[in-house]
Order: sequence, then C-alpha cells, then structure tokens
Amino acid sequence: MNNNFLHIRDYSSDELLEIMKLAKDLKQKFRNREDHKIFNNKSLAMIFAKPSARTRISFETGFEWLGGHALFLGPNDIGIGKREAIKDIGRLLSRYNDLIMARLFDHNHIMELASNASIPVINGLTDYNHPCQIMCDFFTIWETRGSLDDLKISYIGDGNNIVNSWLQLTQKFPIDFVCACPAGYEPDNSTLDESIETGLSKITVTNDPFDSIQNSDVIYTDVWASMGQKDEAEVREKVFKPFQINSSIMSEAGKKAFFMHCLPAERGREVTDEVMEAEYSIVFDQAENRLHIQNAIMVTLLNQSSA
Ligand code: CP
Ligand code: NVA
Repeated sequence: MNNNFLHIRDYSSDELLEIMKLAKDLKQKFRNREDHKIFNNKSLAMIFAKPSARTRISFETGFEWLGGHALFLGPNDIGIGKREAIKDIGRLLSRYNDLIMARLFDHNHIMELASNASIPVINGLTDYNHPCQIMCDFFTIWETRGSLDDLKISYIGDGNNIVNSWLQLTQKFPIDFVCACPAGYEPDNSTLDESIETGLSKITVTNDPFDSIQNSDVIYTDVWASMGQKDEAEVREKVFKPFQINSSIMSEAGKKAFFMHCLPAERGREVTDEVMEAEYSIVFDQAENRLHIQNAIMVTLLNQSSA
C-alpha cells in the first residue's frame, strides 16, 4: 500500500473500501468516547498555507483522540517554500514528527514535500485536489444511502480541486458522474481523460446545469471562487449565477437526491439558504465524517509505516 495519502488514484478500490470500513468502526468508538489512544507519543505536523476550519479541527481533534499530539503550523509560522525550502522542511519534520498533513497551493509543492519526507504525508487540499474530502463524501454516501451501487453524482459549479478528486474516484468505482460547469471552468483535462480512458464510470461534462442531472442520488456543489481565487469572485459570480443550487435544480434532480457541499458554503451564491437547510441536505453529516475518515487514513498510514 502507498505510504502517503496524496491522491485517490494511488489506492486500489479494495484499499479505499478498507479505509471506509475502518472509518465506520472508529466513528462508533469516537461517538462513544471510547479510549483509543493508539498514537501515544506520536506527533502530527499540520502545515497550512491556506485557511481552514474543518481540516484543521478534524485532524487536530482526531489525532489527539487517538492519543497523539498535533501541531498547527499556520501560514506565518514555518513559511514553507519562503523562509525555508520545501525539501528542507520535509527532512526537518521527519526528524521530529511521525506524520505530516499539508494544505498547500501548488500541487507540485506537496509532491516535493512528500518526496523529501521519510514519514507519511497526507494531502489536506491543494489547488489540484482534495482527496480526504472526497473519501469523506464517498463514506457519507455509503452511510446515508446504504450502498454504493448504481450511484449517480451530479456536481454543479466550478471544475475545481473537488471535481478532480471525484474524477479520480470514478477511476476506482463505477459512478455515473456529471459535471455541469460554465464553459472555460471545466476540470483538469488530463484527469478527465484518465477517467474516460479507464472506462469504469460514465462521465458527462456539460455547460448546462439542467442537462443530465435527472435521477441523481447526489447534487454536489462548492464555492465559485476557491482559496487563491477570491479576487476573481465578482467576475465569477456573474458567470456562475445560472449554476446556483436552488429548489428548481433540486426538483430537476429528482426526489431521491441528497444535497452535498464540502463547505464552507457562501449562502446565497452557489447555494440558497433553503437548500442548505432542507431535509435532503447532508452537509453536516459530511463535515462530521472528515474526522472519522481521516482517523482511518492516519491509522492506516501509521500501521503501515510501523509494520
Ligand atoms: N471542506 C474543507 O476542507 O473545509 P476547510 O477549508 O474549512 O478545512
Ligand atoms: N474548492 C475549495 C474547497 C474548500 C474546501 C477551495 O479550494 O477553496
């Protein structure tokens, strides 16, 4: 098994299912507040070049519940790639810590960090992808729907890091995956090609938000301007307006559709208040599951490195 968690594509479907089963077990233990301090004397270095609520809180809470100590290293602390070279930070943290979680801008930077670290590195989001989020989403769908068979996911919005990770998941599990985005805002070309070439899933990319979304199990969206793109927010708001998730999109999607969003949501932009608050919205189950799936990822990686 891979000793980093950088992309969904690095894992087999069996390995991804094992992680989800472990997450289910750890979730039960966490909810019962059972003692499960298997990371005694271990430490996690968490590097954040971008802001975060869920990723920081869930990794820190999870690692501490598992009995270890988590260090928050914010944008002004270690100055990765600025005050000190990325490859030096990778080697330095490997001398102190057992595990690294990093949220960086450039995807090449996390690759460089991982190739210079001798301890496992987890990707907590880059401009290219967000694998922990999509594992969490898939786990949430499994839990909520009770099955992963005949799954149809319609993502409506920007073809960003979230979509790239979904596309990687479609290379591992058969999914009818629709991405509806404005022209010029499609997901990464080579990731899309890989998913189509793998031939396991049905992939539709369209520029019409109402096209192909009928009978969806999930309607998923994300912010229109990601971190690092906030100065484009005004321009994007005009382009993306027809892609807002509102009650007419949800009724076109059909009765069985759940609403999902990785959060944070900009209510009134990509999603209405009404949809966020509706019974079919499972965004906080989804947010909770970040904790459990990441615990499972950390346990898997650390078992692996101590084996
Ligand atoms: N979904 C997610 O990664 O949230 P944060 O940016 O708050 O960590
Ligand atoms: N696409 C968003 C996801 C936030 C969790 C961003 O990169 O800002």
